[in-house]
Amino acid sequence: MPHEPFDAVDVIRAKRDGLALSDAQVDWVVDAYTRGVVAEEQMSALTMAVLLNGMSRVEIARWTGAMIASGERMDFSGLSRPTADKHSTGGVGDKITLPLAPLVASFGVAVPQLSGRGLGHTGGTLDKLESIPGWRAALTNDELMAQLEDVGAVVCAAGAGLAPADRKLYALRDVTGTVESVPLIASSIMSKKIAEGTGALVLDVKVGSGAFMKDLATARELARTMVDLGMDAGVRTVALLTGMATPLGRTAGNALEVRESLEVLAGGGPDDVVDLTVALAVEMLAGAGRPTPEAEVRAALADGRAAATWRRMIAAQGGDPDAPLPVARERLDVVADRSGVLARLDAFAVGVAAWRLGAGRSRRDEAVQAGAGVEIHVRPGEPVEAGRPLLTLHTDTPERFDRARAALDGAWDVADDAGAVDAAPLVLDRLG
Ligand code: URA
Repeated sequence: MPHEPFDAVDVIRAKRDGLALSDAQVDWVVDAYTRGVVAEEQMSALTMAVLLNGMSRVEIARWTGAMIASGERMDFSGLSRPTADKHSTGGVGDKITLPLAPLVASFGVAVPQLSGRGLGHTGGTLDKLESIPGWRAALTNDELMAQLEDVGAVVCAAGAGLAPADRKLYALRDVTGTVESVPLIASSIMSKKIAEGTGALVLDVKVGSGAFMKDLATARELARTMVDLGMDAGVRTVALLTGMATPLGRTAGNALEVRESLEVLAGGGPDDVVDLTVALAVEMLAGAGRPTPEAEVRAALADGRAAATWRRMIAAQGGDPDAPLPVARERLDVVADRSGVLARLDAFAVGVAAWRLGAGRSRRDEAVQAGAGVEIHVRPGEPVEAGRPLLTLHTDTPERFDRARAALDGAWDVADDAGAVDAAPLVLDRLG
């Protein structure tokens, strides 16, 4: 056994008592945990102490650096195009990556979008794309580089070599009630993004019932912490704070969201999905040194330029862009019991319903149903008619309908007129 310079219990006690950890303590504890020298129960105690007592900016930066150092760093400097990436902190109906990656790539910027799968009520980009027949998420680093140079856009699974400390730590936090900590979320996200090697990064920090961050003040603190970590590491980073009180668009579920993304790439689709895609694309292009007016970005959705890149991006990973998308075997309409204007539709409830219908998983190794999810016929601000469908639930396994229906109890309000509708803008703030 090599001699260890610290004792895990001393590090835990220091954080428990509200002290700042030294650089050497942080480097050691992250490395020793990755090597299996610090036990799961010790890291579990330490992360709970961090959740309760916080970390200083200096500690967070060092912790992030230690997680980056636990694995490989990718290098895109050999590409002929600049790189820009986007990361969303996760929401319901958040299919933005699907139209966004090909849209930005159609302006000559490479988008290396290393993505994850859904867990709990939030959907995962890889699960959505896997509903396209033939499409595969796993690429080697060489395939990733070749596709970035050739097509310009890649959405694929992050390889096991990138920030392995985070992989282990995230799985531990998930089962020990230590996810909701600004230092731990910020270091988790930014260690992966900095190790990935993108030149520019746009963070979409979600706020509201369907997001990790339920209030604007905490979301702003998370955004500020991540922007500072990115800038200090030489990544041009900006954050948009965006609303997640209600689902994005009119679908939550894998193939349902791909279908809606195709509408956006065909120049249509729901306004909120289009507006957020365009807002994030404008930021990514500016960050990559290709500032582009918003009207020109919108035009690339309408005139088919982004759609052409989408087809190449899907085909390059074995997918058939023309194949029919899977459809669930069973459907159930949820109808309104009174007429008026929809004042509220809760994102968290819709996310849980989609998850219970089979769009998400409760264990990491579970398969998802491609066709399952929730179709939204009426969005907040739109008229509702008694007896007409508000939502349609989709699943292959109809025994799931009852639990999905239960998740939607109290999930919406109908008002007499539009005065009661929350008219908060989609983009709540921008931090650069
Ligand atoms: N996403 C991550 O990658 N890490 C977190 O801690 C939370 C969301």
